[in-house]
Amino acid sequence: MSLLIKNGEIVTPDARYVADIWCEGETITRIDRDIAPPPGAEVIDATGKFVFPGFIDPHTHIYLPFMGTYSRDTYETASKAALVGGTTTLFDMCCPSRAEEPMAGFETWRAQSEGKSACDYSFHMGVTKFDAGSEAQLREIVARGVQSFKIFLAYKGAFGIDDPELYRTLKLARELGVVVCAHCENETLVAERQRELLAEGITGPEGHYLSRPPSVEAEGVHHLMTFAEMTGARTYIVHLSCVEALREAVAARLRGVEVAVETLIQYLVLDRTYAERGGFEAAKYVMSPPLRDAANQDVLWDGLRSGLVQTVATDHAPFDFAGQKPMGLDDFTKIPNGIPSLEERVNLLYTHGVAAGRIDLQTFVAVASTNAAKQFGLFPRKGAIQPGADTDLVVYDPAYRGVLSKATQIHAVDYNAFEGWEIAGRPAVVTVRGEVAVRDGVFVGTVGRGRFLERATR
Ligand code: URP
Ligand code: ZN
Ligand code: ZN
Repeated sequence: MSLLIKNGEIVTPDARYVADIWCEGETITRIDRDIAPPPGAEVIDATGKFVFPGFIDPHTHIYLPFMGTYSRDTYETASKAALVGGTTTLFDMCCPSRAEEPMAGFETWRAQSEGKSACDYSFHMGVTKFDAGSEAQLREIVARGVQSFKIFLAYKGAFGIDDPELYRTLKLARELGVVVCAHCENETLVAERQRELLAEGITGPEGHYLSRPPSVEAEGVHHLMTFAEMTGARTYIVHLSCVEALREAVAARLRGVEVAVETLIQYLVLDRTYAERGGFEAAKYVMSPPLRDAANQDVLWDGLRSGLVQTVATDHAPFDFAGQKPMGLDDFTKIPNGIPSLEERVNLLYTHGVAAGRIDLQTFVAVASTNAAKQFGLFPRKGAIQPGADTDLVVYDPAYRGVLSKATQIHAVDYNAFEGWEIAGRPAVVTVRGEVAVRDGVFVGTVGRGRFLERATR
């Protein structure tokens, strides 16, 4: 397997230049001008196109058992959708229930992904309880190459952990050199607001938004930051949605807390008005934290530009509009949370970020690929274009124009949250460790070739 990508404009966070990329087997071996095509090599003409490192989604939920059902995608459908959208590596949240042992959860996720993914992947290990038995298993899971934990300060009675568990998880993470990813919402405030709203007769999807105002998220971040300061643990705030929460993270960073911030493509391009659509339509846009007032979007774009926000993820959690979202038809607290976007993230970020002039190309690559690789121990194997890196490349066509739609998506879910939206650019070719996996929007890769990526602690 050898591949020569000619005349593309290579873009990484540090550089922009036109050159050829020579790849042997799974690895980039040479970058130079005018490399002559060796006999037998596949040559891809990237003239007029960008060549980006494969994009990385640091936050997905594939076939997640959640709120009485399972998120819709399997590793096969999710990884194909990811690749067509330019994402070559994803991080799935391995989330056992509180009743389950961590190792059993880890084995379940391994079994449902092994030999079934077309793209490379890793896990953040959900810590959904913490006791002596689970601590020993978490140590073993870290030794098996998972250098990140995931905790929930929300979802009381499901994935959420209490304060003693939070403290002990952070202490263990600090000891092992593991980064802790955290869903930050105050679960008591959410539960109390839900109870009040239902008692007032507010049962529709709009109740979801009303039960989780920005202060609920800001308090969650503040809470985590206090615990991180006390324990010295390295933290990563997932799906940050609003200015109030960002202020708490930045204040903690100024105090010396090691914290990175992830936002989602949904918060950058969708606002609260989607979650207020009439009838049950708003259920398509129920997620936690909820979609916010549009004013927050400027703050988040600015955060990406200035480096206050490190990554843009999807939190891909797909639940059908028919059959799954209606579980909460008469009670918004039972609507499965999530807005699918794994296939759309990169093209939406390019269209509404780069093409719209909100972020430059190099910031785009940093927040959609390189920063996640650095944060989670994959750089420079992933997130880089340099000799020695995996040949995960996206040859991107900025001249492409198209429309997002359920009719053409690969996701298994029955709706597209961005139905009819125009995109200005898409991947022309996507490679995974040297194999061409996508050509002109069509998946041509190999299901099962995707590899579980073991990562070292630092
Ligand atoms: O609404 C969301 N975010 N669904 C997925 C679960 C989570 O909280 O990440
Ligand atoms: Zn979450
Ligand atoms: Zn999530």
